[in-house]
Amino acid sequence: MKKKIAVVGAGNVGASCAMYLAEANLADVVLVDIIEGIPQGKGLDLTQAGPVRGYNAKVLGTNNFADIKGADIVIMTAGLPRKPGMTREDLLAKNAAIVGSVGKQIKKYAPKSFVIVVSNPLDLMTFHMQKATGFPTNRVIGQAGVLDSTRFRAFISMELDVAMTDIQAMVLGGHGDTMVPLPRYTTVSGVPIGELIPKDRIKEICKRTAGGGGEIVKLLKTGSAFYAPAASAVDMCKAIMNDEKRLLPASAHLTGQFGIKNIYIGVPVILGVNGVEKIVELKLSKGELKALQKSAATYKEHLKFLGY
Ligand code: 2OP
Repeated sequence: MKKKIAVVGAGNVGASCAMYLAEANLADVVLVDIIEGIPQGKGLDLTQAGPVRGYNAKVLGTNNFADIKGADIVIMTAGLPRKPGMTREDLLAKNAAIVGSVGKQIKKYAPKSFVIVVSNPLDLMTFHMQKATGFPTNRVIGQAGVLDSTRFRAFISMELDVAMTDIQAMVLGGHGDTMVPLPRYTTVSGVPIGELIPKDRIKEICKRTAGGGGEIVKLLKTGSAFYAPAASAVDMCKAIMNDEKRLLPASAHLTGQFGIKNIYIGVPVILGVNGVEKIVELKLSKGELKALQKSAATYKEHLKFLGY
């Protein structure tokens, strides 16, 4: 039977997810939003692109949550985006209300689904989504590490003028200013970037990566990035649906790994048919571990604000 992926939120991120999913012929897509007409219009538009782009995926736009019934995966993109000068945490209260209510609908209509959260502030919204659905933690995953590392990869490619696809990178920590790019675990076809790029430039690139989302908010002025965030979420869908067992950074629930407990934060995971199948406890240097723990501590504070 054909698989079904629901995308909640028909804004730029949601619509781009629907487009990439259809283009990958991965599943039928349901695009749901509370705003009347937008999901229907974008769904129809994407359907009409199918013959030219060569896909047969059905894309249904709807205002009715019942249409997500039986979805295998739900990508949660709904919520307010950042405006210039805002941190992702500024969105906390408003987006928590949205995530809470969508979580209840997911629990009702797609109780067996995997949920990939894209709404910001990412790690906190993923935690909140897990609580709202009551799903096991392996089925609720935050999309951030793939995005942060794809940005890191793109910047390294720009620096060295080498193929983006030859670059592998690892970025841990929260999806915010405290994120922890790991140059030590970043290579060009297996060659550590330390062999190819001077230290001070690596530092600059790490800094640009951590501010990668903000850089785009500043340019767009009316919202945040959407192509790379959507592409990253779709990459995670593929890993789950095709049981790829990919080793990717993602926001996952920690139960003591890296000395961190009861919080969602970006760590390396194995992503396969069971969602987060394993958290990979990489060996970190003292400094890297400290940075990861510091990132987690920041989010612990914010979780209190949400009543956890
Ligand atoms: C970003 O980093 C929107 O959080 C997303 O661009």
